Amino acid sequence: MKNNLPRHNRNIHPVLAGLLVGLISMILVVTSVWAAPQAALQASPQQQTTGDTTPEPDDCAACHPDVEAQWANSLHAHAYDDPLFFDRWKSLGEPGECLVCHTTGYQATTGEYADPGVTCEACHGEVIENHPPAVMPIRSDTDYCGTCHPITLGEWRLTGHASADVGCTDCHNPHSQHSRFDNPDEMCVNCHKESLGEHQNDAHIQKGIRCIECHALVIPPDVPPADGLSPTGHSFTITPATCVACHTDILHVGNPIPGYEAGAKAVAETLPDSPALPTMVAEYTGAGEETNIAPEQQIQALEAALASTRLSTLFQGGLIGLALGGTTTYLVARNQLQARRDHEQEDAEADATEQNHD
Ligand code: HEC
Ligand code: HEC
Ligand code: HEC
Ligand code: HEC
Ligand code: HEC
Ligand code: HEC
Ligand code: HEC
Ligand code: HEC
Repeated sequence: MKNNLPRHNRNIHPVLAGLLVGLISMILVVTSVWAAPQAALQASPQQQTTGDTTPEPDDCAACHPDVEAQWANSLHAHAYDDPLFFDRWKSLGEPGECLVCHTTGYQATTGEYADPGVTCEACHGEVIENHPPAVMPIRSDTDYCGTCHPITLGEWRLTGHASADVGCTDCHNPHSQHSRFDNPDEMCVNCHKESLGEHQNDAHIQKGIRCIECHALVIPPDVPPADGLSPTGHSFTITPATCVACHTDILHVGNPIPGYEAGAKAVAETLPDSPALPTMVAEYTGAGEETNIAPEQQIQALEAALASTRLSTLFQGGLIGLALGGTTTYLVARNQLQARRDHEQEDAEADATEQNHD
């Protein structure tokens, strides 16, 4: 009984409220249009003298709305309130050690933190009162990202990217964390147009299998680690496990990656007839014409490569039948030869410069 009356009232209210709001806003719009020129004349000198509307340095968003907008949707912004994190953290009894990376400015001694999530201050330091003109620092070095991404940092250190100083922010926008190119493949091809060589004619690339599907392939751990930190594939290396992860149909062994449970053959049927990747690669490399690798050359390269441990583990893995048919094995062999040659050349050059210095 008691409930009926308010409910009845609620049904009327929206209509009345709507009419009222409409009326009020009409009046406001009309009067503000009239008042606007006067208000502007009066307000602007006042604003300058009082400074009431000058953004405080700690209100980064007021002056950097574009950066704020990129960051606001990122996993960094939600590193604390992300339900995946928050629920696991709760279920573990809220250990403080998690907050080192999932909040900003965590103090182990007090258990307090400045802000939830990875905020502006995590990478730009504490607010500088007279910024601008005082300069906010920028921590853009890869080692710094690695303090919270230790496994990824470890993987990266193993690669040519580390020695060539191609760091996290060369590939990732530090605010959105997305890759610098909308299409990550294009980012790879853009830098590697010179070194792709025969690789660009590999059946996989021709079928549109993306660079990171092989080079950053990650077999998900059976049990997700409590802290969420597992390999992210940033060593960009190809191992026997890479091939096995997709080609489970041929080998009947291995750990399939999601999407490839039924093997590569099954997936091939779902791939588009004319994927965009080959065209893009051809545009960047200016190639596109068929290159013919003579079978004798392939066999020579394979024989040479068999001497190397890396490839022999690949063969021990049971890949021989699969691999002999593929240009990919040729590539492994070719690149190992090339790498050896490069090393020999580097050594020779190093010797030469040493001699010059003597
Ligand atoms: C994960 C680390 C990180 C976080 C979090 C971060 N930044 Fe940055 N910021 C960087 C790096 C690295 C650069 C250097 C520019 C680059 O590499 O593109 C940068 C550059 C900038 C620049 C100057 C150049 C530009 O890109 O416009 C501004 C302004 C800036 N950040 C503001 C902010 C604000 C505001 C926030 C919070 C909403 C924020 N940053 C959060 C790492 C970060
Ligand atoms: C009152 C406006 C204003 C506020 C508030 C503000 N910035 Fe800036 N910021 C600027 C301007 C203007 C520049 C460009 C300075 C230049 O190019 O000389 C700048 C530049 C930067 C840069 C590039 C390095 C530098 O200092 O030139 C970073 C990084 C940055 N801001 C981060 C931040 C962060 C983080 C916050 C919040 C803690 C913040 N800013 C708050 C106006 C502001
Ligand atoms: C204070 C710790 C901290 C720092 C510093 C930090 N990150 Fe992160 N980052 C995190 C956390 C935590 C997450 C995951 C958030 C979540 O999902 O709950 C993350 C997520 C990411 C992701 C997205 C992962 C995905 O699955 O999409 C990328 C990319 C990334 N960070 C790159 C960087 C880069 C580049 C830098 C350096 C400029 C950096 N981070 C610095 C803590 C940090
Ligand atoms: C900013 C340029 C740049 C981008 C972007 C880039 N690379 Fe590289 N990459 C390099 C340089 C420089 C080297 C080291 C010299 C070399 O081996 O060619 C390298 C080396 C490599 C190597 C050789 C293996 C090694 O450890 O030395 C592989 C494989 C590789 N990159 C794959 C990729 C993939 C896949 C992508 C896309 C996710 C990518 N790269 C994006 C510049 C880049
Ligand atoms: C050569 C380019 C390159 C470099 C260098 C690089 N990344 Fe990445 N990273 C990528 C690409 C490409 C992806 C996949 C993104 C996508 O699919 O949009 C990725 C994905 C990630 C992810 C998400 C992984 C996942 O499993 O969801 C994280 C976290 C990350 N990178 C962190 C880092 C950190 C930290 C560094 C520096 C130590 C770094 N990256 C250096 C290219 C790079
Ligand atoms: C079928 C899996 C596969 C795919 C897809 C793939 N690669 Fe590779 N890639 C390989 C193998 C195998 C090697 C040789 C590995 C070695 O030398 O250890 C290689 C080697 C490389 C190298 C080193 C070449 C050198 O001369 O040192 C680069 C750079 C590279 N790939 C870039 C890319 C790019 C860019 C893409 C996407 C357009 C891509 N790869 C797609 C399997 C793949
Ligand atoms: C050394 C820094 C660090 C610590 C400490 C840490 N994390 Fe993380 N955590 C990360 C980063 C970085 C990611 C992003 C995963 C990646 O590398 O792709 C992440 C991701 C996660 C994820 C997956 C979120 C998603 O969106 O996929 C969960 C869940 C998580 N962490 C929970 C925890 C818990 C619980 C703890 C404490 C036991 C903890 N983390 C401690 C750095 C850390
Ligand atoms: C991301 C999944 C994936 C990975 C990783 C992968 N492949 Fe494939 N591979 C495929 C698909 C899909 C096809 C197309 C299958 C078909 O057409 O029947 C294929 C086809 C092949 C073929 C037949 C090529 C042809 O000319 O028809 C060979 C050989 C091959 N892969 C070898 C390899 C080797 C060696 C590796 C490791 C370096 C590897 N693959 C890694 C998905 C993958």
